[in-house]
Amino acid sequence: MKLPLLVVFTFILISQIEHSECRQISWFPNVIDSISNKTNQISNYVREKGRTLKHFYVENVRNKITSYLGMDNSDSNNIEKPEDRQSRMNKKFKNIVVEAESSENNIFDTIAPAAVDYKCTNDDPMIHMSTPQLIAAHGYPAESHTVVTDDGYILTIHRIPRSKNAANKLIPRKTVLMHHGLLGSSADWVLAGPQKGLGYILSEAGYDVWLANVRGNTYSRAHISRDIDSFEFWNFTFHDVSQHDLPAVIDYIMEVKGLDTKINYIGHSMGTTVLFALLSTKTQYNKILRAGFALAPVAYMTDIKSPIKLLAKYSDNIEYLMKLLGANEFLPQNAVLRWLSKHACEINHYEEAICENSMFVLCGHDERQFNRSLLPIILGHVPAGASTKTLVHYAQEIKQNGKFQQFDFGPEDNLKVYGTATPPEYALHKITLPIALFSSENDWLAGDVDVANLYVKLVNPIEHYIVPLKEFNHIDFLWAVDAPSLVYTKLLQLLEEGVSKSVDDDVINNNLLDD
Ligand SMILES: *[C@@H]1O[C@H](CO)[C@@H](O)[C@H](O)[C@H]1NC(C)=O
Ligand SMILES: *[C@@H]1O[C@H](CO)[C@@H](O)[C@H](O)[C@H]1NC(C)=O
Ligand SMILES: *[C@@H]1O[C@H](CO)[C@@H](O)[C@H](O)[C@H]1NC(C)=O
Repeated sequence: MKLPLLVVFTFILISQIEHSECRQISWFPNVIDSISNKTNQISNYVREKGRTLKHFYVENVRNKITSYLGMDNSDSNNIEKPEDRQSRMNKKFKNIVVEAESSENNIFDTIAPAAVDYKCTNDDPMIHMSTPQLIAAHGYPAESHTVVTDDGYILTIHRIPRSKNAANKLIPRKTVLMHHGLLGSSADWVLAGPQKGLGYILSEAGYDVWLANVRGNTYSRAHISRDIDSFEFWNFTFHDVSQHDLPAVIDYIMEVKGLDTKINYIGHSMGTTVLFALLSTKTQYNKILRAGFALAPVAYMTDIKSPIKLLAKYSDNIEYLMKLLGANEFLPQNAVLRWLSKHACEINHYEEAICENSMFVLCGHDERQFNRSLLPIILGHVPAGASTKTLVHYAQEIKQNGKFQQFDFGPEDNLKVYGTATPPEYALHKITLPIALFSSENDWLAGDVDVANLYVKLVNPIEHYIVPLKEFNHIDFLWAVDAPSLVYTKLLQLLEEGVSKSVDDDVINNNLLDD
């Protein structure tokens, strides 16, 4: 969902080069320099510039990207041929890389300050709260658990063991494990508050709710021997998450709750990718889990409208991409958006600009479903961290006609790792877990065709539910104003009844845990 932030910034830079009269971005470092002792002046300045920037975004970023992606067919004034535009954009994109290389910087380093010393007086404390603090602030019990993977990553996962309204203190039998998407965290499921957040809604429905955190995100930035700043730490993709993090978390929950625990899995975006990768490789988990519910599922990637497509062109040259994006972590949390979120109380207009435009750029825009008052909290928790290698892996798949396949090390190394010159595709026909897919028409990452093709591959499909609202997009599954009525009601219904016929009577063989 939040993948193409890079591209947003890239386009800002591109636009600057192309339109040297557009200076709207260059004020940014100056603002930071002087922010500590010119509060009033600065906030007026930012407000004013915020309005300009909004205009700038629409004119220079949004329109460019939509036209680059061939989505502005109605634009009759556009005389440049798409091919010309494409090659021009490619050239600009390369120039950005060359610049970043020659200054030995990542692109972000030039626009994202490491730290800003500025206190905002009346901001929402929830911006700064961790997931358990958010949960507790709403009166629910919250727990943190530490899980160590078999390759040494130290994960912190969160839990809402029972509803705050539960009459007794017993922890319910029904169990659900929720997995966030790329650049997300456990906070994704709770930051919308008790009325709208799926984590709370499931808790109220009588579930013991576990919230995973992937290696490298805000809550899982530790390893038993690898340094967090080393390439060794960040040398992973969603495949490694599926092989190590997911089994560790699932096994841990069963250790805590008992080996006969039947875990329901709910994933969003990359949280679905890792489930499909797990079930098609470590197939014993098809018997261990009870059912899977995939929101905005990402497996095949032929039908991508998101600007992440731009990265695919460079996916053959991994080194080049690593240089461009930073070899280790992609878009660290203290980048521009995080800075902005902390100062949102000062910059309402700017906040609006970001909302209306960069969200659109990321995942397709659905202004009506987006709750603006959540924006500061969202920006305070997102992005939560991801490896550049994961981005590269997705980009490779797009390049390879959307095949759902393992990481491509190049022909020579593929031979060593896989025994074949090309990486193996994930064997989706081995997925026997009952699975329901939830998709929407306006999803730039989980397109209609890809989700339909995935659905027919499933051995035990429950249902393919298409959200009955045309504008509903990738991130709306988490934070849309009407997500409860459009998605969660159906999800709860399928959770309760959808799989009872197919698996509940199955004998779970715990010995299958041994790989
Ligand atoms: C902060 O204010 C002082 C004077 O009070 C001034 O000399 C200095 O240049 C200001 N710093 C910035 C970064 O604006
Ligand atoms: C990175 O991971 C791959 C396996 O995915 C491994 O073959 C390689 O040696 C690792 N590189 C480093 C520097 O750790
Ligand atoms: C938007 O979010 C705020 C803050 O969580 C909440 O109070 C409000 O009810 C939400 N509005 C809608 C329409 O969901």
